[in-house]
Amino acid sequence: MRDRHTDKFDKQVDELRTKIKGLDQLKVRDDVFDEYTLLGLYKLLTKGWISAMGGPISTGKEANVYLADRNGTPVAVKIYLTRTANFKKMLDYIAGDRRFINIGKSRRDVIFAWTRKEYSNLKRAKEAGIRVPEPLVFDRNVLVMEYLGDESRAFPQLRLAEPDNFQRVYDELIEVVKNLWKTAKLVHGDLSEYNILYGEGHPYLIDMGQAVTLDHLNAPGFLKRDLEQLNRFFSERCTVRDVPGLLEELCGTSPQ
Ligand SMILES: Nc1ncnc2c1ncn2[C@@H]1O[C@H](COP(=O)(O)OP(=O)(O)OP(=O)(O)O)[C@@H](O)[C@H]1O
Ligand SMILES: [Mg+2]
Repeated sequence: MRDRHTDKFDKQVDELRTKIKGLDQLKVRDDVFDEYTLLGLYKLLTKGWISAMGGPISTGKEANVYLADRNGTPVAVKIYLTRTANFKKMLDYIAGDRRFINIGKSRRDVIFAWTRKEYSNLKRAKEAGIRVPEPLVFDRNVLVMEYLGDESRAFPQLRLAEPDNFQRVYDELIEVVKNLWKTAKLVHGDLSEYNILYGEGHPYLIDMGQAVTLDHLNAPGFLKRDLEQLNRFFSERCTVRDVPGLLEELCGTSPQ
């Protein structure tokens, strides 16, 4: 059934389609720019957070990431895919987090909360001095953040990077995980060579939607898994530290 609200919404969406430069050329899957995404982009555009959308940096099942322009500065725009994102997994992670007690339970509510969660996790990490893309703003399922890369390309994922000294990168990452725990009071929860970018001689953590605060029941378990993932990748490339020892140092115990 149509009403005034729907008509206004459709009008905004139509306006947006013509306003966002490059939108037609993006040739992305239909579900990326569903009506709510368009409305989110519309808000960000009218508020001046995005001047023009560029091409995709990455397309996946959970999210697509685009390069965009903000008054001459490149920014990265991550758009959570409302139809294909793993909503069940998101609910599990959000359920144990005190910051998100009062959210609705619809698919859309959960994905919007997830976007807010990634924004707030990146902000906490950034404030703790950790190398992550600085989050700028979010609206609905759209997150605008600092673009990590140079004029020619985005920083590669660690799995595709060729650092000249893996030991130094590993040691830095262990310090990052410790700092995340001790200062930001967060555990990344999905740390791997896919969610670490490497550029200008340093690793950067990205993809922090699932990161949890230390009061989450599974925080020590996630920490253990993150450290094991790092060791799996680095053990063929350099000397790695013992996970139980690191857990003992950070949590005082070693979770099963
Ligand atoms: N701020 C950024 N600057 C440059 N590139 C980025 C940035 N954020 C993400 N990317 C690129 O986009 C890719 C996907 O981002 P991310 O890991 O946050 O999404 P995702 O949730 O894993 O999505 P999916 O699971 O659908 O692939 C990254 O591996 C990286 O190559
Ligand atoms: Mg990822």
